[in-house]
Amino acid sequence: MDNIKVLIDEKTLKQRIKDIAKEIEKDYKDKEINLICILKGSIFFTCELAKNINKNVKIDFLRIASYDGTDSNKIKLVADLLPSIKDKDIIVIEDIIDTGKTLNYLIPYLKKSNPSSIKVCTLLDKPSRRIVDFKADYVGFEVEDKFIVGYGLDYNQNYRNLPFIGYIEKND
Ligand code: IMP
Ligand code: MG
Repeated sequence: MDNIKVLIDEKTLKQRIKDIAKEIEKDYKDKEINLICILKGSIFFTCELAKNINKNVKIDFLRIASYDGTDSNKIKLVADLLPSIKDKDIIVIEDIIDTGKTLNYLIPYLKKSNPSSIKVCTLLDKPSRRIVDFKADYVGFEVEDKFIVGYGLDYNQNYRNLPFIGYIEKND
């Protein structure tokens, strides 16, 4: 059993997500909101965010696999479940930006379909681990270089259902 410590509790998470929802609501006052949830990690964040946006949002899904254990692997687009995004205003919802490789691959891929705009909203950002430069438009929390689990994030597919953001404490 891994030793999991709480990094961001549920109440703090919910409050910050509410604040981001209000920001998005203001920025998209005159636009349709199309959220693209990156499966599986972003599912909890996408739901909480969508619930707090006080206007209609559309939600679609993409599945990307980029991790095996704690080691960064090749990025794979496992399933593109998107309807046409041509001329749409898109917000990509990520759980965490780590090396930046996933979004560095995904954003050019989405741009090929000619959406009218694309922004990126991430719950967590780990800038100390960046390999390719990438800046999100909306960031929930900056986190230090720890392996994060919970609230959608996994370690070998486990711990996604923890209602808080935690990290795995290494016992060495
Ligand atoms: P990047 O391509 O290195 O920026 O990694 C992005 C993806 O790697 C995220 O969407 C996560 O699925 C996964 N990832 C990165 N860091 C962590 C972590 O600390 N815990 C769990 N998953 C992570
Ligand atoms: Mg992910």
